[in-house]
Amino acid sequence: MKIAMIGTGYVGLVSGACFADFGHEVVCVDKDASKIDRLLRGEMPIYEPGLDVLVAGNVAVGRLSFTTDLTEACADADAVFIAVGTPSRRGDGHADLSYVYAAAEEVARSVGAYTVVVTKSTVPVGTGDEVERIVREARPELEIDVTSNPEFLREGSAIEDFKRPDRVVIGVQSERAREVMRLLYRPLFINETPILFTRRRTAELIKYAANAFLATKISFINEMADLCEKTGADVQDVARGIGLDRRIGSKFLHPGPGFGGSCFPKDTLALVRTAEQFGAPTRIVTAVMEVNDQRKLRMADRIIEACGGSVSGKAIALLGVTFKPETDDMRDSPSIDIVGRLKEAGATVVAYDPAGMDEARKISAFDGVKWAASSYEAMQDADAIAIVTEWNEFRALDLDRVKGLLKSPIVVDMRNVYTAKEMREAGFTYLSIGRETVGAAA
Ligand code: UGA
Repeated sequence: MKIAMIGTGYVGLVSGACFADFGHEVVCVDKDASKIDRLLRGEMPIYEPGLDVLVAGNVAVGRLSFTTDLTEACADADAVFIAVGTPSRRGDGHADLSYVYAAAEEVARSVGAYTVVVTKSTVPVGTGDEVERIVREARPELEIDVTSNPEFLREGSAIEDFKRPDRVVIGVQSERAREVMRLLYRPLFINETPILFTRRRTAELIKYAANAFLATKISFINEMADLCEKTGADVQDVARGIGLDRRIGSKFLHPGPGFGGSCFPKDTLALVRTAEQFGAPTRIVTAVMEVNDQRKLRMADRIIEACGGSVSGKAIALLGVTFKPETDDMRDSPSIDIVGRLKEAGATVVAYDPAGMDEARKISAFDGVKWAASSYEAMQDADAIAIVTEWNEFRALDLDRVKGLLKSPIVVDMRNVYTAKEMREAGFTYLSIGRETVGAAA
């Protein structure tokens, strides 16, 4: 089948490359000519493991191409995916749908014979209705269907998530569109991936409900971690103890510095706004967001506490700045709040991240931060280390070497990648999340 994928962000580029790998003929479209130029040269605009190889392979066999020409890409497409950004709207937190609607207008002008327009961007309930209205108003004679096909891929494991998803959700209003969607996802049908067909509004809501529920699990375990710290319980054991109950499940119960990224913060807020608008407030999700916002702000205090109550004039080595490993994405990363607060408290911050430093440099909170070329360089003569992101290379540091480099052996581990036992044996003051504290700060 012929697919036009509008938007070459995370979702659009990964989905486009994966659909091409399924055997479809995919044209990825973006208004940003420099991005398309880079893609044509084989350069990836984002850091995502395996994406460069997947793109190159499908370009080589002629199934994947890139263009800025939306009209041409849509002209003979069987399906046009809208995968443009839906950032939080300034001021009110609603999803900003201007890019989606602008794309819908252009699609309306460009498509020819029967086409299925698919919203893959995360869009609030009712957006599909508006996309359909826009297209029908512009071209009443057109034969189209508008479907919703939310994406559940995670940054860092996006290709695997797309190709081997837990489920595919498709919201359709007609049997004809359902058939086209079935053909697009044929390889997954063959794999017996559960494919859930719903009405369009339901599919739109499923996406937000899924992200809000996952965010709820995280804020929940983070609050349990705080309680563990006060009571002397161990949050890792609590997570395991509840996670083994299959009704709860063990995933997304890792405590940390709070969730970040391009999805959970924006989508929880958009869901809360939609719910208010429809008069059905989602109080749990509101609390989840509040817990997370406060947590990110409070995280630096743990470093200050580990340093004996003050970081003024001290050097803090930050290991990891991205919101999670295997990405260079800095959007809403907890490190932004942490760095801001440390600087306010008079600390010098030396940071290292395997992929995120270029993106971090663009954020004003990082002005004045010194950048190191490796984790060991960052910790040279530092007064403490804070592990903010659980990149693999921070999981196996040579602890003797670390101790030799630091001015004082203090480690704040916001991802619980080390154990109290090993850090005690290695002679560190060690603060983690929801677990016993080791050393002077205990
Ligand atoms: C999230 C969802 O997991 C995807 O299913 C969804 O498709 C995507 O949003 C989206 O809407 O596009 P992503 O933002 O890439 O994916 O990252 P996650 O792996 O979900 O992590 C989000 C944040 O939660 C990170 O800051 C991570 O550190 C944090 N987290 C995650 C925890 O603190 N604890 C956990 O147990 C899991």
